[in-house]
Amino acid sequence: MQPDPSPFGLRGFLIDAPDYGSLRSHRDGAIIIANGKIVEVGAYEDLRKRQRPVSVRWLEREKVVIFPGLIDCHTHLPQYSAVARGESQLLPWLRENIFPVERDFTGPRAREEAPLFFRELARNGTTTAMIYAAIYEESCEAGFEAAEASGLRVILGKMMMDLGSYGQLQPKKILSVSLIESERLCRKWHGAAEGRLEYAFSPRFAVTCSEKMMRSAAELAQRFGAYLQTHLAENREEIEKVHHLHMSARDYTDVYEKCGLLTPKTMLGHCLHLNAREIDAIAAAQSSIAHCPTSNLFLGSGLLKLDELLQAGIAIGLGSDVAAGPELNMWQVMRAALDVQKARSMSEPNLPRLRPSEAFHLATSGGARALGKSAAIGSFEAGKEADVIVIDLTAVLPYGKQNRHLDDLSAEDILALCIYRGGPYATLETYVRGKCVYCAPNSISSP
Ligand code: GUN
Ligand code: FE
Repeated sequence: MQPDPSPFGLRGFLIDAPDYGSLRSHRDGAIIIANGKIVEVGAYEDLRKRQRPVSVRWLEREKVVIFPGLIDCHTHLPQYSAVARGESQLLPWLRENIFPVERDFTGPRAREEAPLFFRELARNGTTTAMIYAAIYEESCEAGFEAAEASGLRVILGKMMMDLGSYGQLQPKKILSVSLIESERLCRKWHGAAEGRLEYAFSPRFAVTCSEKMMRSAAELAQRFGAYLQTHLAENREEIEKVHHLHMSARDYTDVYEKCGLLTPKTMLGHCLHLNAREIDAIAAAQSSIAHCPTSNLFLGSGLLKLDELLQAGIAIGLGSDVAAGPELNMWQVMRAALDVQKARSMSEPNLPRLRPSEAFHLATSGGARALGKSAAIGSFEAGKEADVIVIDLTAVLPYGKQNRHLDDLSAEDILALCIYRGGPYATLETYVRGKCVYCAPNSISSP
């Protein structure tokens, strides 16, 4: 999919959060996009008047908000059909509800569902996602094909597990087949679509992966410059299990360290129950964390000590973690991130509050940093790639189009309305590299 080469302008209330703790906004702002990049950002009146060699096609409408595309740092393609299912905690939930769904996610099912999954991401305003497929090569292949067609920015990997796995393979063969297939997928897809698609070696977690598998995944990721993703310290029973499997390890994080899994291209899901040594080790390795608050609440896994991880300087993004998280909607994930810190503050009164602008930073610039993509996406700067969403403000306002108090709203007010009331129904358009990848039926025609 080639980006539209002729420049076009989007006019609206611009809001982004390049720095943690503050918002940047233009009430009547605009961005101009050409060749897939943001070329100008500023006040609409200024940009409109500027002389240029090529004329700009303007997309102007009232009462829209323009945000950087949302970034989902952790989710599972095969699990979406199983959202909101089960009432148990992590390990029984995986056994009873998730492995059976993933077991059925072979080629035909994946080819049917993957296009729908990416359509849902785009409809929710997610422009970049880091995703696990099922254990089958075909499920990942179908995922990449659908991701390519969707126009979204996607990091995907075939799930790796060789202990207690589902599937038909003889146990003796699982490890070697998993490594061969993962490498083949990485060779084919890492960097495809001019770098819009990338590969993540994806050992599930230490409960279902042998040391040999984890080591080999780390070696392959290093060899190809690809990402790594896994789950860490999500649940007490899981941690206990890992402790029994790896008696000589100092702690859960040490198991991954020893296998070479902690790298600057590693995304660690959850990280709820870490000790100070583990936090230091993750920070020293410059690995990133995907905070998955809707999932952590659904499974009763715990409340993230976000302040401690941020203080350690760890790059943190947000993840929907479908199907433990019930929605792909990243506004709901931001809301849950706020609620989790509020819940903590009830027993820890001195805890600093998490603010909507900070949750939004995590879902945009923070996620970009966690993926090593700060130079390309996450905020509105000339030269960055144009991953942008246009939101219908009236869809989140009380009394909708009849609301007469729009002009009184600050950027903070508008962001809070989106976080507490936002969702796919409010997305008008989603752009990746300047290409419209989703356009609502009620939107004006896309470029
Ligand atoms: N830990 C290992 N696998 C999974 C998974 O699929 N979902 C969640 N939430 N945690 C996991
Ligand atoms: Fe997960």
